[in-house]
Amino acid sequence: MLPQPARPGLGLFGSGAVARVLGRALRERGVHVVALAARDSDRAARAAAFVGPGVAAVTTSALPGLVDAVVIAVSDEAITEVAAQLAAAGLHRGVALHTCGAAGIDALAPLSEAGVSCGVLHPLQTLPPGADSVTRLFGITFAVGGDAEAVRLAAELVARLDGRTLHVAPLGFAAYHAAAALAGNGIAALLDGAVTLMARAGVDAPHALDALGPLCRTSLENVLALGPVAALTGPVARGDARTIQTHAGALRDVPDDVARLYRATAARLVTMAGRRGLSEDAAARILGLLDVAEGERT
Ligand SMILES: NC(=O)c1ccc[n+]([C@@H]2O[C@H](COP(=O)([O-])OP(=O)(O)OC[C@H]3O[C@@H](n4cnc5c(N)ncnc54)[C@H](OP(=O)(O)O)[C@@H]3O)[C@@H](O)[C@H]2O)c1
Repeated sequence: MLPQPARPGLGLFGSGAVARVLGRALRERGVHVVALAARDSDRAARAAAFVGPGVAAVTTSALPGLVDAVVIAVSDEAITEVAAQLAAAGLHRGVALHTCGAAGIDALAPLSEAGVSCGVLHPLQTLPPGADSVTRLFGITFAVGGDAEAVRLAAELVARLDGRTLHVAPLGFAAYHAAAALAGNGIAALLDGAVTLMARAGVDAPHALDALGPLCRTSLENVLALGPVAALTGPVARGDARTIQTHAGALRDVPDDVARLYRATAARLVTMAGRRGLSEDAAARILGLLDVAEGERT
């Protein structure tokens, strides 16, 4: 049995995807979510109703008097402004967490200065606008950082969601979030580039995605199971310069950004293959072919 929440009341600020879904997920797991505020009162009312019965839609000025801790889930650029509004409304104690992965607690400076313990609680998950499925937040990783009391509460909330806590260094959130974006959004860019190349082979996008699906899923499973270097296969890993040369030829009539994506990926693969024993000569040959391919386009 999980302990009862140490704090009587959690508040939310925001009426978007994260405030709604995170609020509801926490409430479903027994966290005492008492109130939600947002800049628009109608949207606040709808979001509070979504979070669950008994959650009051309140004004920004009322929120500090009702809660011991607040989760601020607003657009990245609005976090400091909202923190300043809450500090001006009397939030001078307890905990404030924001849900942006790219910013540390600097974003909450007005609340830190007012005496609030500040932290980050970033769900490493994607919630599209209008998302309503709380299950997306169960069992995932949350990046956490900040002042000791805030980190303690954040870890407690993560445990409620059967999640894993990833402690990020105070100045590490930009790198952490860049990593998440590279992995999470990079897959989309790689597949879009691959589909563009498939079109040059006469394969339309739906068929290309269908065909690439099993290959991509197996590659991802291998990478997760063995690690990126051990899981490496393909022409770069084999030092097969002749095949890379044919690929370079196929890149001549694709858009520039797709050709650059291929070359950047291949260059990283050369580095990785080097760690697994690709000779310096073979690496230099492949990198030379990639340079020639670039030169032919410029
Ligand atoms: N969605 C995801 O996949 C995801 C995942 C992890 C973390 N996050 C992070 O969680 C935070 C919230 O994201 P979200 O997806 O929930 O965003 P969202 O659905 O776009 O909602 C943004 C919220 O911020 C409010 N807002 C914007 N500017 C404001 C201002 N100047 N003053 C007061 N409120 C303002 C909006 O109010 P209005 O409705 O009135 O415009 C809305 O309630 C962001 O920091 C985001 O980076 C998002």
